[in-house]
Amino acid sequence: MAERRVLKMGDPLLHRIAAPVEALGTPELHALVEDLWDTMVARNGAGIAAPQIGVDARVVVFAANTTRVGPGEPPVPRTVLINPVITALDNVRDLAWEGCLSVPGMRGLVPRWRHIRYTGIDADGNAIDREVRGFHAMVVQHECDHLDGVLYPQRIEDMSQFGFEEEVSIAGRYSKPPC
Ligand code: NI
Repeated sequence: MAERRVLKMGDPLLHRIAAPVEALGTPELHALVEDLWDTMVARNGAGIAAPQIGVDARVVVFAANTTRVGPGEPPVPRTVLINPVITALDNVRDLAWEGCLSVPGMRGLVPRWRHIRYTGIDADGNAIDREVRGFHAMVVQHECDHLDGVLYPQRIEDMSQFGFEEEVSIAGRYSKPPC
């Protein structure tokens, strides 16, 4: 399909509550998913949400190989997740550096639930139900936040831990693209 323009922070369309998907398995939905993959891969992202390309739908895609996830963590399978629901499975949060295709060039230290369950469906309506931790849990929470109009800078608790990628890298605080 096609790489799409990614909306950047400041665009009001990024702050809407996205609409649930009701028609599954349609050509339109499959085309949206293909555009999301093409756009994510072209920009070397680990995930992207439909609102980031201006589409009002609760659809996210994500994937990460072993070089992108933390040491010893399993890769994140290529996943299309629609109408997701996330449940934290304990009260522990971890801090990790995040980036976002809608906030280019920046990185920030964001707290996320360490251990979550997420459910939803894929583009054909097949059920997804997973229990995950670490990078996988982080990327799911980051992408699903987009469906509720939340960008990661809104989650940062210490704004001194938010900055330009090259500066936080030089300072040794962040070493690889997390998202
Ligand atoms: Ni993002």
